[in-house]
Amino acid sequence: MARETWGTRIGFILAAVGSAVGLGNIWRFPFQVGQEGGAAFMVMYLAFVVLIGFPAMLAEFVVGRKTDLNAVGGIREWAGGAWTYLGGLFVLIGFVILSYYSVVGGWVLRYVVGSVTGGYTATESAAAYFVSIASGTDALLFHAIFMLIVIGIVALGVQQGIELGVKVMVPAIFVIFGILAVYAFGLAGAGEAYAYYLSPDVGYILENWQSLVPAAAGQGFFTLSLGMGVMITYASYLSSDENLALDGVSIVVLNTGVSILTGLIVFPILFSAGVDPATSGAGAIFISVAEALIDLPFGQIVGLLFFLTVAIAALSSAISLIEVVVSYAIDEYGMDRMRATGIIGVAIFLLGVPVTVNTIFVDLYDIFAAQILLVLGGILLMIAITWLHADKAVGELEKGIGDLGSIGSLWIWIVRVPVVLVLLVSLYLGITGYIDFLQGPFAEYLGSL
Ligand code: PHE
Repeated sequence: MARETWGTRIGFILAAVGSAVGLGNIWRFPFQVGQEGGAAFMVMYLAFVVLIGFPAMLAEFVVGRKTDLNAVGGIREWAGGAWTYLGGLFVLIGFVILSYYSVVGGWVLRYVVGSVTGGYTATESAAAYFVSIASGTDALLFHAIFMLIVIGIVALGVQQGIELGVKVMVPAIFVIFGILAVYAFGLAGAGEAYAYYLSPDVGYILENWQSLVPAAAGQGFFTLSLGMGVMITYASYLSSDENLALDGVSIVVLNTGVSILTGLIVFPILFSAGVDPATSGAGAIFISVAEALIDLPFGQIVGLLFFLTVAIAALSSAISLIEVVVSYAIDEYGMDRMRATGIIGVAIFLLGVPVTVNTIFVDLYDIFAAQILLVLGGILLMIAITWLHADKAVGELEKGIGDLGSIGSLWIWIVRVPVVLVLLVSLYLGITGYIDFLQGPFAEYLGSL
């Protein structure tokens, strides 16, 4: 059977952007900024995206396009032997991330419904409303609905399912978020918010680098969908000799643009409403947008458009997460796409059920996945690509670009040494931070049961 490919050249970029742009930009980014001290985090995050994310993304691209295989088969063919286990890690990461991603996606769907029924604009407090839907039956129900939609789309296959959604989503995000950012600009708290969000304090960075570094690394990988083979899988559907570097730049720029724009909406609203970004946690985006919509003209319609767009963004990312696992099952076990998607989807749903019980499980899953699993996956991947097969990697990157000369070796050496070193430090700090979380807030939660 011929392998599926993208319908159009632009289809690949759109799908990769669809994977990258998601809850990571709209939900995770603002609450990371809030927890990690505002602009200090922004600086670190931007540095990670440009200096580490971009070269790492190219590395995943070359493996996918060279091998024409799913993430697991691709890494086995690329590096051979024990590296196959790295593929197993990718599959595991896909499972873990999608399980809680779907719960948060369910919150978004719940807010879509809330926009129609007027739920969140009718309450006294946007924060209380968020708490009321974030755990419990509502959360469980909408987690199930979100997974059902993902299963439905992925069962249809790469072209019909994935390409279509993205073509609507990306332009819609920029338009609607643009409108909301202009609204937020007019608020009383805007000045204070911009200072908090955009002017970093060097002293703060120096004092807090031990939590900033792993947080920025985790966010950098998470937001660009790196470290678990998504970009390997997507690049494997490329049939032509595309300029991978140019594609990578477009993806990184669009993705970063959405994150920055989200911050320009969230922080002015939080400051104006007197909500402290440091404590608003996983609810930051939901609380602040609902807060804004209560007194915006046509708030309900804007809200409906906003949460619908976020839902599409979340779905197109969720699709890429499950696609890593599904394409593995299809390629390696000859499973039927429908069956594979159904079985895997149900398993992921079950893994996400605890997350609907209490929002502390969001942190439990999320810190583990982003700051430990993705960074670990990234380190191993970078070693397999640049230390073991540098010539093959440069040769593949040159297809569709032309002779890279010394730029090719520069890329290899950037990934070989500084990228890998910084990631190792991030991983170490991420693990120690996670242990603190387990012994602190999580132990407290368990004790309170
Ligand atoms: N990049 C996606 C987002 O920002 C999440 C994601 C992470 C998707 C890892 C695939 C792989 O929402």
